[in-house]
Amino acid sequence: EARLRRKLLDLHEAATSFYEEQLRGPEGAIAREYLAGRGLDQKGLEKFRIGYSPDSFNALRDRLSSMADAETLRASGLFSQKEHEDGTLGHVYDRFRKRVMFPICNESGRVIAFTARTLETGDKAGAKYINSPETPLYTKGQVLFNLDKARTAIRQTEFALLVEGQMDCISVFLRGIQNVIATSGTAFTEHQVNLLRRHTSNVAVNFDPDAAGANAAEKSISLLTEEGFTIKIVTLEDGLDPDRFIRERGVEAYVAAIRGARRQSDYLIERARQMFPGATGDQKVKAMNYLLPHIKRIPEALARGQFAHDAAQK
Ligand code: GTP
Ligand code: MN
Ligand code: MN
Ligand code: MN
Ligand code: MN
Repeated sequence: EARLRRKLLDLHEAATSFYEEQLRGPEGAIAREYLAGRGLDQKGLEKFRIGYSPDSFNALRDRLSSMADAETLRASGLFSQKEHEDGTLGHVYDRFRKRVMFPICNESGRVIAFTARTLETGDKAGAKYINSPETPLYTKGQVLFNLDKARTAIRQTEFALLVEGQMDCISVFLRGIQNVIATSGTAFTEHQVNLLRRHTSNVAVNFDPDAAGANAAEKSISLLTEEGFTIKIVTLEDGLDPDRFIRERGVEAYVAAIRGARRQSDYLIERARQMFPGATGDQKVKAMNYLLPHIKRIPEALARGQFAHDAAQK
C-alpha cells in the first residue's frame, strides 16, 4: 500500500546515500580504483549515484535499523535472512557486500532497486551481477534502466538506443549519447515496450556481439515488431560491447556505427546466411524457414512484402 511504498522509497534513498559515502570512504578505495579503471570519473559517479557496499553483514542494517521495523526492512529487498531449521526466520543481514552499487530508478528518478557488480574476476567471483529481488517497489520486467535520464533525449532524437548492460548504458550516456536505455540483461518484456511507447516508436538495438546478445536481440526485435516499432540493428566490430567500443574507438566512431545501423530485414537475412551457409537447397529451405516467422510478424503490408522479396533474392 502507499505507506509501505513511501517507506521503502525512503529506505532506498538512505541506502543510496550510504553506498555513495562508502565509495568515498577508506573502504571504497578498491571500488574507486576499479571504477576509474573502467573510465568513470567523479562527475559520472555522482550523476548515476554509484556507490560501494562494504564487506560487512551489518553495515547497512545498522544504518537503517532506526528507520523501520524488521518487517519493513525485510520487504525492502536490501537484506537477506537466514531461515532456521524449525522454519522461523533469523536476523536480517546485508544482501549486497563488497560490490559496486548501481541504483535502479523509476521514471521519476527515485531509487527503487539496485544492481550490484562484483569486483572479483575469475572463478571465485560468483555471480557477476546480483539484483534486488522483486519488492512492492520493483518488478524486474517493468523497469527500463536509465529511462528517467534518457526520456528527454529520446523525444528530441526521436529514437531510443537499446543496450543490454548497465555499464554499457552509463558509459554511452556519459559520453553524450543520452537517448540510451538498458534492458539489464533480461529479455525485453511487453511492459517495457509500453513504457517506451510513450516516448518513441523507433528503436536502435545494440546488444553485445556474442551468442547471448544475438539471441536477446532477436527476441527484442520480435516483440518490438509485433508492437509496431521501427527497429534498426547496430553491430559493432571486433566483438566489442558498447562500453568498450565507445572507450576504445571514441564517440565519433560510435555515432557512425549508430548511423550505419541496418534495417531489421537486412540484419536477419545476414544472420540466416551465417546460420545456414552454403548454396544447397536444404540450406536455403532452412534459412527461409528461419526468416518466415520474422517476415509474418511485420504488421505493415508493404514492408512485409519487401522483406519477403529481399529474403527470397538473397
Ligand atoms: P561488465 O562486465 O560489467 O562490462 O558488464 P556487461 O554490461 O558487459 O555485462 P554482460 O554483457 O555480461 O551482461 C549484460 C547485463 O546482464 C548486465 O548489465 C546485467 O544486468 C546482466 N547480468 C550479467 N551477468 C549477470 C549475472 O551473473 N546475474 C544476473 N542476474 N544478471 C547478470
Ligand atoms: Mn555488455
Ligand atoms: Mn554480454
Ligand atoms: Mn557476459
Ligand atoms: Mn561490458
